[in-house]
Amino acid sequence: MVSIMSLMMRSKDKKSSQTEELNKMDTKSVADTVDLRTKISSSNMDVFYGDKQALFGVNLDLYENQVTSLIGPSGCGKSTYLRCLNRMNDLVPECKVTGRITIDGEDIYAKGVDVVSLRARVGMVFQKPNPFPKSIYDNVAYGPRIHGLVSKKEDMDALVQHSLQRAGLWDEVQDRLSAPGTSLSGGQQQRLCIARAIAVEPEIILMDEPCSALDPIATAKIEELIDELTTNFTIIIVTHSMQQAARVSHHTAFFHLGNLVEYGTTEQVFSTPQDDRTKAYITGRIG
Ligand SMILES: Nc1ncnc2c1ncn2[C@@H]1O[C@H](COP(=O)(O)OP(=O)(O)OP(=O)(O)O)[C@@H](O)[C@H]1O
Ligand SMILES: [Mg+2]
Repeated sequence: MVSIMSLMMRSKDKKSSQTEELNKMDTKSVADTVDLRTKISSSNMDVFYGDKQALFGVNLDLYENQVTSLIGPSGCGKSTYLRCLNRMNDLVPECKVTGRITIDGEDIYAKGVDVVSLRARVGMVFQKPNPFPKSIYDNVAYGPRIHGLVSKKEDMDALVQHSLQRAGLWDEVQDRLSAPGTSLSGGQQQRLCIARAIAVEPEIILMDEPCSALDPIATAKIEELIDELTTNFTIIIVTHSMQQAARVSHHTAFFHLGNLVEYGTTEQVFSTPQDDRTKAYITGRIG
């Protein structure tokens, strides 16, 4: 891909100007015909861990059936932001979130919100594949079971098969569904975790560096999958790879030291960054 090459060549080919490199980035674009609808809206979000503030007044609207990448240097608050979207930060005792986050217009931090069903609507895939110590089948069936989505065995079989097919894993595992999830390769385990996440029909899938433990082939499979999944889901992905952000996402948000610095279409952020910090980060000068 031109974009990868241009970045790899960066340090060697000092002559090519920075703008030239940015313009070479082969980015995913947002179709002009797409009518974007806000799925998640965050306003004036501050997040603290004890006395330490991790996010400062973040205002960010994320669009339905689109892939949005969150990028930025280590410690800038990407995971913190992501975890606010399904209230995973509730599990961190010293973490305090203020401001407002809505999904389809409903405040997810309002009194009376059922966090278990929120997490079913907003699934999560982590950096390190983390299948449960159960069979491949039971990993996928786990969520539908606890949420009581299906009762009959044949319906569960169909749901497990469908989820594994959507995660691009069915062909590889259909003859060993009772083998432990942990017996799969890293890339297969990550697709199993995606199958597990989509089995409960979430509306949103959060992915925190889902490919960082995977080789390029497994990564390519996950990226392909992300592309297919946007038909049905809204995807927010944290990545340290500029190439990955450029390849998979329609929109990109750049965070720096707890601030949302820049947000736009991936094409715009990579080809004509408005802020010097964004420019420095995507060309590898900070981070
Ligand atoms: N559980 C926690 N307790 C205390 N501080 C935390 C906790 N989690 C994160 N932080 C702090 O909040 C800030 C943002 O961290 P966060 O994990 O969101 O960054 P990140 O952008 O995801 O970084 P990375 O790219 O390294 O994963 C950092 O200063 C971090 O030290
Ligand atoms: Mg992180």
